[in-house]
Amino acid sequence: MRKLSLAILLATLTSVGDADAQTYPSRPITMVVPYAAGGPTDTIARIMAERMRGPLGQIIIVENVTGAAGTLGVGRVARAAPDGYTISIGHWGTHVVNGAIYALPYDVFNDFEPVSMIATNPQLIVARKALPAKDLQELVAWLKANSAKATQGTAGHGSASHVSGVYLQSITGARFQFVPYRGAGPAMQDLVAGQIDLMVDQAANSLPQVRAGTIKAFAVTEKTRLAAAPEIPTVDEAGVPGLHISIWHALWMPKGTPKDIIAKLNAAVVDALADPGARQRLADLGQEIPPRAQQTPQALAAYHKAEIEKWWPIIKAANIKGE
Ligand code: MLT
Repeated sequence: MRKLSLAILLATLTSVGDADAQTYPSRPITMVVPYAAGGPTDTIARIMAERMRGPLGQIIIVENVTGAAGTLGVGRVARAAPDGYTISIGHWGTHVVNGAIYALPYDVFNDFEPVSMIATNPQLIVARKALPAKDLQELVAWLKANSAKATQGTAGHGSASHVSGVYLQSITGARFQFVPYRGAGPAMQDLVAGQIDLMVDQAANSLPQVRAGTIKAFAVTEKTRLAAAPEIPTVDEAGVPGLHISIWHALWMPKGTPKDIIAKLNAAVVDALADPGARQRLADLGQEIPPRAQQTPQALAAYHKAEIEKWWPIIKAANIKGE
């Protein structure tokens, strides 16, 4: 009798789960952005949320949960119910670097269900407009001559912009202070205002300001120039060879989210990334969209694992510690 009622209970729960998955989504979904509004992750999140609304038939509310280099926002999703209504947008910083430098209350790989890669964007080495340097070599010389007062804005200790700055220091020997903000967005405001000297920043955040002429760009941290800004030299061309860093954004859901809910959300991402309008907006921000075959949960899991295996030894060797 007990076995029978247990079986009925399990069958009911599964059918409820299946019913939920069939009617998913039946209410608005929240996408948690772990950095401040106006920054690259927020900008990419809003482009995706807007375009995924159609295929899902529900709005996606973008919520900025900032602080601790993105660990607070990502932690929020790790603890969320695996019911399909809370999405984590993150990147190399939140889901690779932070796992190497912080003693986190969650596992950056095993506590999440991969949904899909979104895009990759290189970093730009940019500086305040009035900084007295006309190319990357002069910038490095200026930094070395002003190491006591030079400042680089970051999105927090361990963020993509911070680790990229550490990489710039280790390759050039230049030294400068890191000034942490709740995101690259607020840091950019201070760079435009001349309050800080430089950023190693995602193209999605810097390109609009470079185009507006409010800051100056010295190089892109890639082997090839950006299609969206062919006038900006690569680090190799500009004389700091090997400083190659690209930041990839992706979507995850809490561990245990049903596979068919993941499949529905993945289909909405694929639909959005195939949309000419969304593609153009992302391309204008220097984003490289992965080919269709890499827009699967399995492809994200494999890439994420490979990035962890590649970068953790480097980050640990660089002795970068979370604050
Ligand atoms: C942001 O959106 O602020 C950035 O993704 C932060 C970072 O540089 O890691």
